Amino acid sequence: ERGEYRHYMLKEIHEQPNAVAETLEERLTRDRLLPAVFGPDAETLLPAVEGVHIIACGTSYHAGLIARYQIEQMAGIPCNVEIASEYRYREPVVPKNYLFVSISQSGETADTLAALRLAGKKPYLARLAICNVPESSLVRESDLVLMTRAGPEIGVASTKAFTTQLSALALLALALGKAGKRLDQAAEAAAVKELRALPAAIEDALGLNDEIEHLAEQLVHRHHALFLGRGAHYPVAMEGALKLKEISYIHAEAYAAGELKHGPLALVDEDMPIIAVAPNDALLEKIRSNLEEVRARGGSLIVFTDPETGFEADAHSQVITLPKAGGKLTAPALFTIPLQLLAYHVAVHKGTDVDKPRNLAKSVTVE
Ligand code: F6R
Repeated sequence: ERGEYRHYMLKEIHEQPNAVAETLEERLTRDRLLPAVFGPDAETLLPAVEGVHIIACGTSYHAGLIARYQIEQMAGIPCNVEIASEYRYREPVVPKNYLFVSISQSGETADTLAALRLAGKKPYLARLAICNVPESSLVRESDLVLMTRAGPEIGVASTKAFTTQLSALALLALALGKAGKRLDQAAEAAAVKELRALPAAIEDALGLNDEIEHLAEQLVHRHHALFLGRGAHYPVAMEGALKLKEISYIHAEAYAAGELKHGPLALVDEDMPIIAVAPNDALLEKIRSNLEEVRARGGSLIVFTDPETGFEADAHSQVITLPKAGGKLTAPALFTIPLQLLAYHVAVHKGTDVDKPRNLAKSVTVE
């Protein structure tokens, strides 16, 4: 079933153009989001939403963190994101007219289900599940459902589930933006166009495979790595660090690049690889100056960036340029692709069990 691929993870990484296309299929026209996407009740419900609580675990949590930037920007409403294992043991205060959103590939994660059940006792407008398994507990117990259509994910490390979650969450941001009358027709058409271009852009990003396989050799003997990003690409960096640590067992941490000088800069020396996500967005100059601070301390840099951002390779830095820049809705998914490939190739070089990393289960059905 792996076919030509050496591991399920690699197969699933390559399935992403199709999985994302499937997830967007029949939910968009050429320039519109279709109203039926969230079911018949959503048409009266979404205009009433004044804020969002997103709950998930692990990689699904990272998808939620990215969505926060998009929801706040497109819909102009507050959005909080929390890990389910913390949320379920707080006494969450729910303001009026809030929407609860859970995100889960499996729909069986114990903490996420417990959070959903707790949310059922709170005055949310509704509970929406973004999930990949139609017959799961999460789907059965939620009021509204938006399915990702990634198909079965076998590799323990989540890849195509994540990018399809990002696609579904972009639809949610769009829907909330429309419902709140903040997004005009031209902005909606531009967002739809950007989303429709995502599968092909992911395909192009997969073309970086050989370059990244080569780069991965340098990380095999490292014991630590620091991932940096800003804005919506801070959670992309978190996802890159999670992928690396779970399958290659290299200790990896992600920081918002602006936090560097508040502590982690002390870790930077020539033995610490710094992996930066630096798209051509409003924060480019900010992260550029953060990376200058790293370079000045002798850190070795690997910079993932867009064309024409002006990063130059030298003895201490390597630059990997994505073939084409994405926009606000799609850049996080695009920058995730090379980070998945990096983690994969480091793990293969190290000889770990890529599809079944030690101590981990695909679906965490116990607390
Ligand atoms: C990491 C990974 C996990 C899951 C987490 C939540 O690669 O796969 O962090 O994302 O266990 O699982 P779901 O999405 O099934 O609730």
